[in-house]
Amino acid sequence: MQTGTIPISFTVNGRRCSLEVAPHHTLLDVLRDQLELTGTKECCTEGECGACTVLVDGRSVNSCLMLAAEAHGAEIMTVEGLATDGRLAPLQEAFLDEGAPQCGFCIPGQLMSAHALLNQNPHPVLEDVREALAGNLCRCAGYVQITKAVLAAAEKGDR
Ligand code: FES
Ligand code: FES
Repeated sequence: MQTGTIPISFTVNGRRCSLEVAPHHTLLDVLRDQLELTGTKECCTEGECGACTVLVDGRSVNSCLMLAAEAHGAEIMTVEGLATDGRLAPLQEAFLDEGAPQCGFCIPGQLMSAHALLNQNPHPVLEDVREALAGNLCRCAGYVQITKAVLAAAEKGDR
């Protein structure tokens, strides 16, 4: 163990990881800088924008607000975990079909919030989608396309 670090282990996208983390480093820091999972975006670092959203034990979490050490023992899913065998998940396809990504910066966070919603509620109505994605800001203001994509994926039974 390095001096001043904490040993932790968790599962990321189905892969077990054991690593040493600085006590002040967030889950976002560790995902991006130690595990090189840069799909999760860093923006406000204050829990305001949702760009850093990942799933922790199935719940959507702003990873900039969670210390990495708090994730010990958890099951984490990042946007990299959505595609399988190099193929986009149906939810990702729906985002493309609806033209949801513009600059794309908010999209990983939007996808993870949408994925959490569809896991918990496979048949959401418009208000459910708006509520689930309320913490995800889009500077390009593609909210209509993003919402349509989530509803389209739900209609097809996709996640
Ligand atoms: S970077 Fe985490 S909420 Fe904005
Ligand atoms: S697509 Fe640009 S911030 Fe959302």
